[in-house]
Amino acid sequence: MRRRAALAALALFASAAAAAPDPAPDARQRWQESPHGAMLERILPDAIAPAKLPQPASRGARLARRYCVQCHNLPNPAMHERAKWAGIVERMVWRMQGRGNMGELMQDLMAGVAAPDAEDARVLTRYLERNAQQGIDAARYPDLDGDAGKSFRLACAQCHVLPDPRRHTAQEWPGVVARMQRNMQWMNRVVGSRPDAREPQLRVTEIVGFLQRHAR
Ligand code: HEC
Ligand code: HEC
Repeated sequence: MRRRAALAALALFASAAAAAPDPAPDARQRWQESPHGAMLERILPDAIAPAKLPQPASRGARLARRYCVQCHNLPNPAMHERAKWAGIVERMVWRMQGRGNMGELMQDLMAGVAAPDAEDARVLTRYLERNAQQGIDAARYPDLDGDAGKSFRLACAQCHVLPDPRRHTAQEWPGVVARMQRNMQWMNRVVGSRPDAREPQLRVTEIVGFLQRHAR
């Protein structure tokens, strides 16, 4: 009898959890409508749909969907290497606690922002670490010093660690590089689109060639 009551209570809890409203659209609307929305929107591209997060039903993914969309687009765990995530989460939690150094801007926004407790922050960090990007092992690629390798290093280490070419197949790389070109425009990183000797050029053909030569 008691067991049945406990099960019923559990079922009730589960359905309440399933019906809990998704806070992300509200949060997104709040930052987009803030006078600084345009700037916040450009911090990260809208590159990963919530359902495409790795292990989408895990606690880590749920926490990312809840906390990490309050000021900018959802971050992709694969953006950064393992070693970077703990520091980033620490900086972000500090911002969520209203201690960010973006003064006025964060104050406008902070009213509706929630911060994870220490345990949730740990789960979130471990989730991001588990699904992190793998940096290249430079010692294995002597041709990183060649022309194509140089173009790759110049372009692809601006926002995250220089990626491991074995992350993708030769077929996949052109699509990933095309998305990165869009990320570069979105995030306002300076890359020359017209030949100009004074500016680093984005040599897409060379970069894709390098990645495909060493692909998975
Ligand atoms: C209170 C607002 C706020 C919340 C919530 C927030 N961020 Fe940020 N985030 C920022 C601001 C502001 C920047 C740009 C300045 C900076 O990098 O600190 C940023 C930048 C970033 C960047 C790009 C900079 C880099 O180091 O690559 C990543 C990645 C990031 N946030 C991840 C996260 C994650 C993961 C979460 C959830 C744990 C999160 N953010 C939640 C405000 C926030
Ligand atoms: C302007 C910043 C920026 C630059 C420069 C950049 N990236 Fe990225 N990269 C991102 C962001 C943001 C993400 C996470 C969102 C996404 O996956 O698009 C990411 C994620 C990745 C990932 C992990 C996701 C996946 O699909 O495997 C790889 C690999 C990657 N980048 C490769 C590259 C390569 C190769 C270049 C050079 C052509 C490059 N990046 C240049 C911003 C950048």
